[in-house]
Parts: sequence; C-alpha cells; structure tokens
Amino acid sequence: MQDTPEFRTIKFSQTTLTELMIPSYANFGGKIHGGILLSLMDKVAYVCAAKHAGNYCVTASIDGVDFLEPVEVGEIVSLMASVNYTGNTSLVVGIRVISENVKTNVVKHTNTSYFTMVAKDEHNRPAQVPGLIVENREQVRRFIEAIQRKKLKQNYKHESRHIKVPNDPEKLLNLLKGERCVLERKAIIKH
Ligand SMILES: CC(C)(COP(=O)(O)OP(=O)(O)OC[C@H]1O[C@@H](n2cnc3c(N)ncnc32)[C@H](O)[C@@H]1OP(=O)(O)O)[C@@H](O)C(=O)NCCC(=O)NCCS
Repeated sequence: MQDTPEFRTIKFSQTTLTELMIPSYANFGGKIHGGILLSLMDKVAYVCAAKHAGNYCVTASIDGVDFLEPVEVGEIVSLMASVNYTGNTSLVVGIRVISENVKTNVVKHTNTSYFTMVAKDEHNRPAQVPGLIVENREQVRRFIEAIQRKKLKQNYKHESRHIKVPNDPEKLLNLLKGERCVLERKAIIKH
C-alpha cells in the first residue's frame, strides 16, 4: 500500500459530476427537488474529499445552500468540486453547480456550497488529511475565505446558543412587532 503524502495539489482531487435531470427527480411543479441536488452535491464532495484524504470521509456540515435558480427536467447539471481548505482531520470542499439547457445552450449557476468533510481511519476515528499545495491567487482566495467562514460559523454557533426569549410581555411584543403571527393571551403571559 502506498503512503499518503503530507501535501497534495488541488488538481489531484478536483472532480466533476454530470447528470441528466430525469422526470422522477421533479416535484409537482415540474422543477427538480432540492434534495436531489443536495444528494448529488454530497456525492461529489465525498469523491473529492476521499481522493484528497486517501481515506473514507464523512460529511460534518454544509454551508451556503441557497438555490439561486430552478432546475428543469431535461437539463444537464454539472457539479464541480475542489478542496478549498485543509484543517487537521477536516477539509472543505467547494462545489459550484451549473445547469445547462442543451437546446438553448443557456447555462445557469444554480448554487455554490461548501461541504466540511472529516476523514476517518480504519477504527472510525478522525484521521489527518494531507495539507494543500496552493498554486495560484484564486486558490489562496478560496483558502482564506474558508478560514473566514469557519470563524464566522464559530461566532454564529456561540451567539445562537445565547438567544434568549424575554419573560417581560412588553419586550416580547416589541420583538414580535411586524411579524405575521397572532398572539393569544396565554402565549404572552407566563404562568
Ligand atoms: C463530524 C465528526 C467526524 C466529528 O467527530 P468528533 O469526534 O467530534 O471529532 P473532532 O471534534 O475531533 O473534530 C474532527 C474535525 O472535524 C471538525 N468538525 C467537527 N464537527 C464539525 C462541524 N459541525 N462543522 C465543521 N467541522 C466540524 C473539527 O473542527 C475537526 O477538524 P480539524 O481536525 O481539521 O481541526 C462526527 O461528529 C461524525 O462522525 N458525525 C457524523 C457524520 C456523518 O455521519 N455524516 C453523514 C450525515 S448523514
């Protein structure tokens, strides 16, 4: 068995997955289910991560899943994945998804998302991944953006743990001002 190197290029694990959108992928409105796209993204993220890591990987978290454009039956979806960042046992795979109408040649950018994957060893413990050989400006930008997102996510996690719902009815009403809900008396007064 070959030893895993300490560093790998991004090119080494870059992966593109292309799939035709068939009718069974569509919802009642004729558009492709978001879950189908998510599943394809998870698949391409896995291939890219496992190739870089030289190990089995699991999905730890997913960031930035905003569907910018609907995808139609008959379109060809391509998912381009590359390692953006390497930590110790985790790495971030950036995925750009485009959808192409073969008749009109119109190409839509449907989303760009970031999957954090963790490599596992044969005992199912997190395993160290090779670092990244960063070869150009764009790769530096992606690496730094991933560091910034990681920090923002840590802050968000910390802040969201401290969200408090006030007991004071006046403060409560103030927070809900302009929201589309009708408050029953027992929802405001704490017993
Ligand atoms: C994700 C998982 C491997 C983390 O395991 P753990 O024992 O908590 O590991 P650690 O705390 O040592 O973290 C390992 C790495 O994962 C990263 N990590 C853990 N949870 C994370 C999260 N929610 N988001 C991003 N990164 C995360 C850590 O930052 C660490 O990275 P580093 O080694 O590069 O610094 C573990 O929780 C797991 O196996 N989850 C289930 C994954 C799975 O089944 N996915 C498919 C879901 S359907």
